[in-house]
Amino acid sequence: MFEEGQYFAPVNTDADGTVVVELGENHPGFADPEYRDRRNAIAGLAMDWEPGLPMPEVSYTDTEHEIWRLVSAELAVKHQALAAKEYLDGGERLKLPADHIPQLAEVSEALAPLTGFSYLPAAGLVPLREFYGVLSDGKFHATQYIRHHSVPLYTPEPDVIHEVIGHANALASPRFAALYRAAGEAARRVHSEDALEFVSRVFWFTLEFGVMSEKDGLKAYGAGILSSYGEIDEFRGMNIMPLDLYTMGTVDYDITKYQDKLFDAGSMEQLEDVVGEFWETCDDASIERLLAEGG
Ligand SMILES: [Fe+2]
Repeated sequence: MFEEGQYFAPVNTDADGTVVVELGENHPGFADPEYRDRRNAIAGLAMDWEPGLPMPEVSYTDTEHEIWRLVSAELAVKHQALAAKEYLDGGERLKLPADHIPQLAEVSEALAPLTGFSYLPAAGLVPLREFYGVLSDGKFHATQYIRHHSVPLYTPEPDVIHEVIGHANALASPRFAALYRAAGEAARRVHSEDALEFVSRVFWFTLEFGVMSEKDGLKAYGAGILSSYGEIDEFRGMNIMPLDLYTMGTVDYDITKYQDKLFDAGSMEQLEDVVGEFWETCDDASIERLLAEGG
């Protein structure tokens, strides 16, 4: 999922208990009552869920499966050329279905023997501390709805395609999974809001929008790029900067647009050495020092 509010449609519960997803006027599904009902029903499943209950199962329609089939096929071609090797290796092991939307329970079952990660249902935005904290337990919050059928290659929000194609292939890699867990441990270790924000920004510029150099050019490993049909084609032309904790933790970014500043981790090893090490050891004091010293 994405971590910031603007991206998610707010989810409210009416006085009579009805769950309502407040789509904005520019949302492709805004004027489609059938889609609105669908979104409300799927959000309701996550709202009703409690720890200990089985993961909510969504009965996806043929139209919804068709969107998955189309986007999945388009992304697969682009991934072969532009996704980092470690991500592709994760995908080989996970073997996500290309012909139907998998249930989160199904993806969790496939991840269990690989890295032990499993999904938790989210109706929409999950508070930062909760979202990141549970990563240290090998849990990942995900939404289950799919984008509107009128524009299958675009979504203003993180949908099941982002959550599963973007994140699960990385969560199937023991090396990426260790980084997700380390981010979670960092989120649990820090207390101040500033430090948590710093940890989440580093996550944003790595596990959501990270790129790394490989022998045949720059590749993406961030879930936000790899689940976006448009962004995959654009990332090589963005302003590519070297991996730098201070800059990642403080640079301005607009999550409603393509990310124009990206950080090249150099390699998987360097990502682990710099970012993994940071998440494994940071605390309020070390982040405060980093901010004070300007890197
Ligand atoms: Fe995400």
